Formats: sequence, C-alpha cells, structure tokens
Amino acid sequence: MDARIVIVGAGGRLGAALLRDYTPRGATIGLTRQQLDLADAAQVRDTLGALDFDVLINCAAQTNVDRCETHPDEAFQLNAEAPGVLAEICTRKGAKLVHISTDYVFDGEQRAPYTEDDAAEPISVYGESKRRGEQRVLEVSEGHLVVRVSWVFGPDRPSFVDWAMQQAREKDHVEAIGDKFSTPSYTLDLADMLSRLMSHDDACGIFHLTNGGACSWQEYGQYALDCCVAEGIPMKTRTVGAVPLASMEKFIARRPVHTTLSTAKYTQVTGHAPREWRHAVADYVRTHVLEGTVGS
Ligand SMILES: NC(=O)c1ccc[n+]([C@@H]2O[C@H](COP(=O)([O-])OP(=O)(O)OC[C@H]3O[C@@H](n4cnc5c(N)ncnc54)[C@H](OP(=O)(O)O)[C@@H]3O)[C@@H](O)[C@H]2O)c1
Repeated sequence: MDARIVIVGAGGRLGAALLRDYTPRGATIGLTRQQLDLADAAQVRDTLGALDFDVLINCAAQTNVDRCETHPDEAFQLNAEAPGVLAEICTRKGAKLVHISTDYVFDGEQRAPYTEDDAAEPISVYGESKRRGEQRVLEVSEGHLVVRVSWVFGPDRPSFVDWAMQQAREKDHVEAIGDKFSTPSYTLDLADMLSRLMSHDDACGIFHLTNGGACSWQEYGQYALDCCVAEGIPMKTRTVGAVPLASMEKFIARRPVHTTLSTAKYTQVTGHAPREWRHAVADYVRTHVLEGTVGS
C-alpha cells in the first residue's frame, strides 16, 4: 500500500491485527491508548498534528456495551465526540478517516441482512453513541469512510469464541445464546477486506464488512468446538447448549436480536466476496488456537 497509515486503538483486537498486517506493506504507525488517549482532545490534536499521513483508521472505542449503559458521558465522548475530532484533523490534513462502527447501530428487528441504506435505530447507549460517531464523521466530510463490523474475533484479544472454547476445555457444560443472530468477523479477513476497500480512493460513506453467512452465538460456539475436536484439541464437552437472550440477567444494556449485515455494497465496489464465517473460524482454530498464539 502506498498510503501512509496511522492506526488509532492499535492495542485492541482489530487495531493490533490491522497494524501487524499493514506494517510490512508500507508506512504504518500504530497508536495505543497509552500513546494517544481519545479522552484528551488537546493531546489528540498535538500528537496527530505532528504526524504526516494519508489515512487514519480509528479502531479505538469504548466497546463494553454494559459499561456504556452505566457511563453514557464516557461512551459519547469516546464513541461520538472523539471521532468527530479525528475527522476534523483528517480533513484539515487532506487525509481520509476510516472510522470503525458496529452492527449495534441497528435495532435488530429486521430479519433480512441490513444494508447501508437501512435506518439505524439503536436500542442501547453503546449503539446510540456509535451511531452519533458515524454521523459526526460524515458531517465533517462525506469523503470519510465509516465501516461497520460485527462479532469481531481474532488472535490479538480473546472474544466470545475463545471464551466458549476455554469453557469447553474446563467444564462439562457450556451454554450460549441461541436466539441472537449476526456474523462473526475474523480480524485477519477484515484487514484484507479493508485494504481492498481502501484501494478504491473514491470509496466513502458507510460500508458493511463482515465474513459471509449468519449464525447464533450458540451455533458460532458449537462450530468452534467442532473445529477443536477435528484438530484433536482435548475438550471436556463437545456441545454448546442454547439459552435464550432473555435469560441473560447480567446484561444491563439491551442487545439487538438480528444484526446480520449485508456486504453486497463492498462486493460491488471491490469485486471480492467475503469468505463464509465457518471457514474463518476453522482457519482461526487451526492457526492460532491449536498453536496457542491467542493473546490476552
Ligand atoms: N468486538 C466486537 O465484537 C465488535 C463488534 C462490532 C463493532 N466493533 C467495533 O470495532 C472496533 C474495534 O473493536 P475491537 O473488537 O478491536 O475492540 P477492543 O479490543 O476493545 O479495542 C478497542 C481499543 O480502543 C482502545 N481505547 C479505549 N478507550 C480509549 C481511549 N480513551 N483512548 C484511546 N484508545 C482507547 C482500547 O484500549 P485498551 O487496549 O487500553 O483496552 C482498545 O485498544 C470498535 O469501533 C468497535 O466498536 C467491535
């Protein structure tokens, strides 16, 4: 890649994967929360003002859905106001902002996959703060890019799928929600897809990027266990039982039920179709879980 890239949130699950993937391909700088605190607008302006770049990818966010519900000011500052500041800095520099957003901007009532044209009507503070962030970015310039992803997993930070596999190694019984649906998205695949999208200079506005297909959390966990069994990883149980979303008493924020995202617009622009989530999970188990290279 010829573009000089800065990745904000480079210590997170997606940011770390993008940094590792893009660094060998060209000038890439990663900034972790320790190096750039989005809560400190003056620091953000000073730090980024001193850097030359063509593209800034913002992977930083308050991603804890329940914390957002109990700390709305923090959620709106990090997920809505800070992306607006990043967009202003990028616009002044003539750079493009690629801002990562979420399937949680939707209310989850629609059965068909959501397109970029469908109305975003969040049902949680997290979703509302992320939606406001999208709007702030595109209000500053329609030339910026908002990329919505869902159910992100990868080797740089454990997620639901790692929890399910860990539970199955340690316990006789594992359960996951069986009536909430979306698409797992592998960070290594997102890095590839984002790179393809960014190679189209005129790609702007909102895009959905996920792996292909759809499943429930229970199906997702079950398939990961199936892959572990196929790879000979010892398990205490090989089955993930299904529980209803309504039984999750610990959840504070409401979760949208159906948030599969259509990636047709991405395919139309790039000519590339994302591989199915099952292939991505099988790949992940083979290359990272089996090898023990999942970070903490
Ligand atoms: N995870 C999912 O399933 C999922 C689903 C849909 C959309 N998304 C979106 O995808 C993006 C990446 O998520 P992820 O899965 O990579 O989440 P993550 O692992 O939680 O990464 C978020 C990063 O943001 C950093 N951060 C938090 N507060 C910050 C601050 N004040 N200043 C600077 N950095 C700060 C975190 O720092 P620390 O390293 O110190 O924690 C972390 O590195 C986010 O925009 C998220 O909303 C994620």
